[in-house]
Amino acid sequence: SDESFIAYAAAAPNLALIKYWGKRDSRLVLPLNNSISVTLDDQLMRTVTMATASPEFAEDFVELNGKPVEVTDRMRAVLQSLRQRCQRGQDLASWKVRVATRNSFPTAAGLASSSSGLCAFAVAVARLADTLRWLSTVARLGSGSACRSLFAGFAEWSAGQRPDGVDSTASQLASAGHWDLRVLVCVVGAGAKSAPSTQAMARTVATSSLLPARLSCLPDRLAAVREAVAGRDFASLAEMSMRDSNCLHAVCADTYPPVHYLTDASRAIIDFVHRLNEASGRVVLGYTADAGPNVCLLAQPADVHLAAGCLQRAFDIGQVVGDLGEAADNSKVPSDWAGDGSGGEGATARHRIESLLICRLGRGALDIPQAEAAACFDSD
Ligand code: DP6
Repeated sequence: SDESFIAYAAAAPNLALIKYWGKRDSRLVLPLNNSISVTLDDQLMRTVTMATASPEFAEDFVELNGKPVEVTDRMRAVLQSLRQRCQRGQDLASWKVRVATRNSFPTAAGLASSSSGLCAFAVAVARLADTLRWLSTVARLGSGSACRSLFAGFAEWSAGQRPDGVDSTASQLASAGHWDLRVLVCVVGAGAKSAPSTQAMARTVATSSLLPARLSCLPDRLAAVREAVAGRDFASLAEMSMRDSNCLHAVCADTYPPVHYLTDASRAIIDFVHRLNEASGRVVLGYTADAGPNVCLLAQPADVHLAAGCLQRAFDIGQVVGDLGEAADNSKVPSDWAGDGSGGEGATARHRIESLLICRLGRGALDIPQAEAAACFDSD
């Protein structure tokens, strides 16, 4: 009917360098700590969403890549909060909504999709309701990490202190153009199915005695990351990211029963990074891993070619996607360096990396025009 509204949104996943892990309020999705992330390039990975409202729909309905999915309580919370803010009048606020979402990831192998998925969901429905105010609060209701994907480049989500959560919002720390960092996403074969982050972090809060230690060292680590971003200090940013990733997986191991995300392949990549940095006499790469086995590497543009070459010698890599960059003069790494601890030939038990995705930092969901999202929706 002509009495319907359609809106589109697109969002890229973000990668936390300082992780969000643990809530102080699970209904309102309020975190125990601030987190800092980089938003990845939507050209390489994105979720696009079309939201439609019509008086003829009997129920709210959500589909992902063409298949109906459960409308979760979190999605209902997003819809409810936007209905309350709806600027298009009472009619539309009472209409049911259909949301169709498509992920255009080169591989479906467990890349963090909740951040881009729930962010695009919130933005599409907010455009439908014609209200973009408080969007980071709304996106957060869908999935905590989603609120950081609203912004380009570097974003920080503040834990806030108020019980109603109005001060728990995300904002941009620095634009993507401020610092041309690259992220090499190592998609490793999915191991045993990972514990969903929502449940796993609740169990950490309930059982881990290491979590308080993590929380008490975070203010200094967050300050160091803000400073590293402002001063484009790669060695410091990489070190803080590696330490925070290790710390997250340590509190996961201290959770009872424990939560395991990393596989042998993930750990081999982590050890590889430390050996490469050691052999190079400088910090060539950093790493960080979320609630799954994939490991994301941080690099400066001039080192991407070198890093990919060294990875190719040490791992069995399926496909490489994205811009490899030019070979630069990185002569400090010995040419026969195999990165497997063997010092050259004779590498044993090469682990598999299914895909290596080389990403730039990119736009936030708020920067991607609706018309562009609509065109992507039709082509993806
Ligand atoms: C390890 O945002 O997926 O990726 O708020 O319960 O939906 P919910 O959790 P989610 O958790 C993300 C955890 C993480 C770290 C991070 O992205 O900060």
